[in-house]
Amino acid sequence: MSSTPKKQSLLDMATQKIVESQLWRSIFRHGYPDTPLNQSLVMMGNVFLHLHPVKVSRQAMKITYTWCMGGISFFLFLLLTITGVFLMFYYVPHPDVAYQNINQLNSVVAFGNLVRNMHRWSAHLMVVSVTLHMIRVFYHGAYKPPREFNWVVGVLLFFVTLFLSFTGYLLPWDQIAIWAITVGTTLAPYTPLLGDTVYKVLLGGSAVGQETLIRFYVGHVILLPLAGALLMAVHFWRIRKDGGAAGPPPAPSRSIKAGAEKERIPTGVR
Ligand code: HEM
Repeated sequence: MSSTPKKQSLLDMATQKIVESQLWRSIFRHGYPDTPLNQSLVMMGNVFLHLHPVKVSRQAMKITYTWCMGGISFFLFLLLTITGVFLMFYYVPHPDVAYQNINQLNSVVAFGNLVRNMHRWSAHLMVVSVTLHMIRVFYHGAYKPPREFNWVVGVLLFFVTLFLSFTGYLLPWDQIAIWAITVGTTLAPYTPLLGDTVYKVLLGGSAVGQETLIRFYVGHVILLPLAGALLMAVHFWRIRKDGGAAGPPPAPSRSIKAGAEKERIPTGVR
């Protein structure tokens, strides 16, 4: 008995033609990822999928495991960069015009008030999300080997975030900004060994003034964002190499034998 081959529908034929075309195969080099080998090959052969490890812990994929605090911090960083570039078109870092520019942004510039507030609120939120992310990582013990280097990179990112917030605070050049930074920078001379140097480098003089404003501006729009972007690139690459977010540790063999142990250990000794 010979079985007649099943007739292909037009859609099946079109799909097959596309999947077998040179264009398709130049982008997707492997078949459907239905075997562990194919899954690995697909992940490694595609630049976007390659950003993720081939295997991740099922538990660590749950949204309630990380609360996506790292992802939210990254999103806020991107939002801050975009809104910050918009603000740069209207802001001149000079004591004569800085405050006026900010007022104009609030009242005259189209969408100025909205974008300025997006920038301010994202900055506050980023400090909160990075702190919560750090607490989450600590709570899960994800700072332990092999992730100890990434913890150090994270600590640097935490300081970059705080300094971005600190330097940005001076830019509106209003009374609250000038006095907050005056108070903040008065702490600098108490830095062990380097106290006076740190104070002079930060202020550019003996009090908050024009030199301070330009220093904080350059730090806020160039140096710190660049340092942040570089550190984030290392941070994400390290997460990828360490196999994604650390899942919970494997159940200790004791808990498997717990039932048997219960029978041996008398109550009160446990
Ligand atoms: C701008 C700041 C930061 C960004 C954008 C960021 C981003 C991320 C992302 C997206 C992840 C993947 C898992 C998750 O979302 O929780 C992650 C993991 C991690 N982050 Fe951060 N992070 C930042 C700051 C920090 C800080 C301040 C620390 C600690 C001091 C830290 C330490 C770590 C460690 C150790 C991991 C691996 C966690 C694990 O394997 O479970 N990061 N980070």
